[in-house]
Amino acid sequence: MSVTVRVPAKVNLHLGVGGTRPDGYHELVSVFQSVSLFDTVTATGAPELSVTVAGEDTAAVPADHRNLAARAAALLAERIGVEPGVHLHIDKRIPVAGGMAGGSADAAAAIVACAALWGLEPDHEALHEVAVQVGSDVAFALLGGTAIGTGRGENLTPLTHCGRFHWVFALAHEGLSTPRVFVECDRLRAEAGTPPPEGPALDPAADFEAALASGDPARLAALLRNDLQGAALTIRPELADTLGSGLAAGALGALVSGSGPTCAFLVRDEEAARTVAAALVASGHCRSVRTAHGPVDGPAARVTTATDTTGTDRSSLYISQGAA
Ligand code: C5P
Repeated sequence: MSVTVRVPAKVNLHLGVGGTRPDGYHELVSVFQSVSLFDTVTATGAPELSVTVAGEDTAAVPADHRNLAARAAALLAERIGVEPGVHLHIDKRIPVAGGMAGGSADAAAAIVACAALWGLEPDHEALHEVAVQVGSDVAFALLGGTAIGTGRGENLTPLTHCGRFHWVFALAHEGLSTPRVFVECDRLRAEAGTPPPEGPALDPAADFEAALASGDPARLAALLRNDLQGAALTIRPELADTLGSGLAAGALGALVSGSGPTCAFLVRDEEAARTVAAALVASGHCRSVRTAHGPVDGPAARVTTATDTTGTDRSSLYISQGAA
């Protein structure tokens, strides 16, 4: 038997970074949105845990126990007391080390696929617990949609009233290490004598909720913010040219996605997306360009969110089962 799960990438509409906690993580407040760039993970019963990876950029993805999907499968097996007998095949479309939580997405897909393979109910609390253990963004990758994340990013409040937004993503030639960007953010703050905010706050959250619910991309564009952007631009100064090219071509808002180096552009509609994408390709500032919309559901959304979401594209939810 095999189970295939499709899982979306994310962009952070707001990423507020606070101080370092005793466990080494930073206190965050994030507004996540899932967008229609997908990886697909197929879990097939096998004598032991193994991973294969296909798609773009796969040289940078470990095909062994270090892969986040493999870690997630192993932790889920341990948590529910079964042998981790599964082969995971990952078809990658989400940029690798791009600030779009591709590895976390694969882990979330592996959790849902293995849960189905091993006969767990999809709302079993083990799914969320294992997600939080694997990484800060995995809980959101399970859920998808649009949500506020606090703590390490794993305490989620879904924002279910959300219009449909159009995005363009400029992929960089080389990935960025997330820990390196957080360290650079701390270094820049220390150098400037600016202490991190005590508890980073989404202030006021009501503005975000209203802009999302309105479906007006110009309102949302005015709120986009990423505290890691300065650090990503210090490490990769050329990203400023990428951001500038998209804005010059008519994007309403532009920011580095998460820890980067992918640059995200919020645009008015699909036509504007095509115009901005073409300008970014012509600028030569990036490796390639993708257009997408958000929010889209994550693979566990059906069991964890209310059904009244207005703008969420439910066609993204894709779980198929079949004989191996
Ligand atoms: O949780 P995850 O393994 O995805 O995080 C990757 C790295 O990003 C962490 O090892 C840490 O360096 C940094 N990070 C952080 N604070 C967070 C989330 C991530 O410092 N809240």
